[in-house]
Amino acid sequence: MLEALKAQPQDKILQLIQMFKDDPRGDKIDLGVGVYKDATGLTPVMRAVKAAEKKIWDTQDSKTYTALTGEPGYNMEMRQLILDGAVAADRLSSIATPGGTGAVRLAIDLAKMANPGATVWVSKPTWGNHISIIKFVGLPVAEYRYFDAVSGAVDFAAVLEDLAQVKAGDVVLLHGCCHNPTGANLTLDQWAEVIALLQAKQALPMVDLAYQGFGDGLDEDAAATRLIAQSFPEVLIAASCSKNFGVYRDRAGILMAISADAEQAKITQGNLSFLNRQTYSFPPDHGIRAVMTVLQDADLTADWKAELEETRNGMLGLRAQLAEELRKATNSDRFDFVARHRGMFSLLGLTEAQVARLREEFGIYMVSDSRINIAGLNVATVPILARAVAAVL
Ligand code: LMR
Repeated sequence: MLEALKAQPQDKILQLIQMFKDDPRGDKIDLGVGVYKDATGLTPVMRAVKAAEKKIWDTQDSKTYTALTGEPGYNMEMRQLILDGAVAADRLSSIATPGGTGAVRLAIDLAKMANPGATVWVSKPTWGNHISIIKFVGLPVAEYRYFDAVSGAVDFAAVLEDLAQVKAGDVVLLHGCCHNPTGANLTLDQWAEVIALLQAKQALPMVDLAYQGFGDGLDEDAAATRLIAQSFPEVLIAASCSKNFGVYRDRAGILMAISADAEQAKITQGNLSFLNRQTYSFPPDHGIRAVMTVLQDADLTADWKAELEETRNGMLGLRAQLAEELRKATNSDRFDFVARHRGMFSLLGLTEAQVARLREEFGIYMVSDSRINIAGLNVATVPILARAVAAVL
């Protein structure tokens, strides 16, 4: 029977991890997968997370199941961190999920259960796995143009023009902050316009918030999500702790749903719990508990925020340096947008052939669409990248 299976297309980002590993060159540079790395190339366990894990190790006396929703305290803390009271608590439902991807997957499942006729709109471009998941679940995907590769900015006129085609009940997937892969983000005024349009269209907004704290700050990065939460009767929010708590492999995420009223929220909550049960029963606990332990302890929270700020500012410094070095190397302002982008990624606007040359001739690895992970750089490698980019132009 298994011979009926077809080979699956490889995920571009995961494929790159293997290619980088297989490259014997000592001076190779990995700007591929979205994992934070410090100046020494290490993806550290954050101090507060380490302290929380010690605390858990010292005090945990049972590994019995908790709740189908995942630890209730984690759900409460994450609702607060992301929404900060933007929505009445009795309209909120949530479940802990294995990472942000788990939340995205179950959000699409939930949307299909509620409206099997929905089309899911994604930005062009978006994270490749969004499209793959939506198609796998079996909903049609439509794209709204998002990025102007020449200016490196959001093509806002195109966003509005394409979202004007959305039908009532369609799902519109929005990146809450730090757009992946482009790094270009809407201003709050632009968000307000998108919200007004989607309200008029009676769309269901679905926010993917995977990089809160990596752009302009924890509250700033949640501002669009909070505005959306306040503006619609129903919203889905898929969020990840992989990056901002650095708990990638522990798989800590959350799926939140806002319902029109408290009565509906109970039914939505039952459906979310049902989805967890059908998919893997109880969600994993370790990373989720570490996050909760940090957020329930004022000292650990302060230390976590301080380390997250160091991380964020480090990436901003690398952005400024890279824009400057690219200016020098190319003798143009073509890449100035790198300093204006936010989050881990910037889409450089290079061709696939140029990306291939960077990999083959210079040992510099980026996704074939020319997305770079800023955190893969350090002060010493920024000029190397800038000179290599100039050489392949
Ligand atoms: C990325 O975009 O590189 C990250 O979200 C990691 C992943 O799983 O693709």
